Amino acid sequence: MKKLFLIITFYLISGSVNCIDVISYPGGRVVIEIKNPISIRSSVYFCKIKTQTECENLITAQVSDLQTVVHKDRFSLFYSFTEGIISLIFRNLSLQDTGMYQIGEIRGWNHNINLRVKSDPCCGTKTVKGYLGQTLMISCSYPVEFKTNTKSFYRLDTIAGTELIRTSGTQPHQDRFSISDDRRNKVFSVNITDVREDDVGVYSCVVINEETAVSYHSLFTVIQLREVTDDTPESPDGTLTKSESAGSSINIIIITVVVFVLLLLAVGLVLIFYKLRCKRSQGLLDRNVLESLSEVSI
Ligand SMILES: *[C@@H]1O[C@H](CO)[C@@H](O)[C@H](O)[C@H]1NC(C)=O
Ligand SMILES: *[C@@H]1O[C@H](CO)[C@@H](O)[C@H](O)[C@H]1NC(C)=O
Repeated sequence: MKKLFLIITFYLISGSVNCIDVISYPGGRVVIEIKNPISIRSSVYFCKIKTQTECENLITAQVSDLQTVVHKDRFSLFYSFTEGIISLIFRNLSLQDTGMYQIGEIRGWNHNINLRVKSDPCCGTKTVKGYLGQTLMISCSYPVEFKTNTKSFYRLDTIAGTELIRTSGTQPHQDRFSISDDRRNKVFSVNITDVREDDVGVYSCVVINEETAVSYHSLFTVIQLREVTDDTPESPDGTLTKSESAGSSINIIIITVVVFVLLLLAVGLVLIFYKLRCKRSQGLLDRNVLESLSEVSI
């Protein structure tokens, strides 16, 4: 079915004073939040601005429907009546999603969103493995644009995800999670202590921008914790652990000794062989000498 095009001329004519820059990465998702004070009476929409007078409708929801999450394709909308926050989630972004968008209420407020989806080697999907009862360190390389942003770590158990910890506001330790930001190397790390089997799941490295009335969370790298085992852990850089490397050096020693013993045996055998040959030729010589001597003496 062809995509539904809605020409929502009046939204654009009504004009938009606010424009927010949102940065994301291929495969990532953004959560855009519009905070109080906003009144919600009619319908909330999110559309992609095509021309000056045309906005392609992506998701629209009646206020009465926003009590629960409303989904359409890669978009979700919901309204927290207690907090007075409208959230829009835009999932699985690709480079082609770069463009100008608008979120608003029909015949009400609106905000323009300048979304930029960029390629960066920092961002993508990572798979990690946990070891029962151990500490798992997950590092998130981030693009330079986010150097001063608040960093956060999510578990993607629901459509909006659950924030586990962030670098600002609350202390950098929460339950089994801790976070630290190395701005010089543009990487933040999250430690999960006492890893359990139910930690298996999908997580995300996140940056937060809350400087404007419209805030956003950019989920830029997906971390898949595939399994939690009780094997001996490998060291973080993938090298062998001490016991394993000790085992392999013992093997090398054994092989060296065996080769040395075999060489000694071979040398010994050769020596014995030559000794025998020498003795035999010595014997022959002796006999010849004796014979010639006896001839001489005759
Ligand atoms: C994300 O989008 C790409 C194309 O841009 C598609 O191939 C892929 O299946 C999508 N993944 C999910 C999880 O929807
Ligand atoms: C995570 O653990 C590593 C080693 O176990 C430690 O060096 C690092 O400081 C910890 N990071 C945080 C944020 O606790």
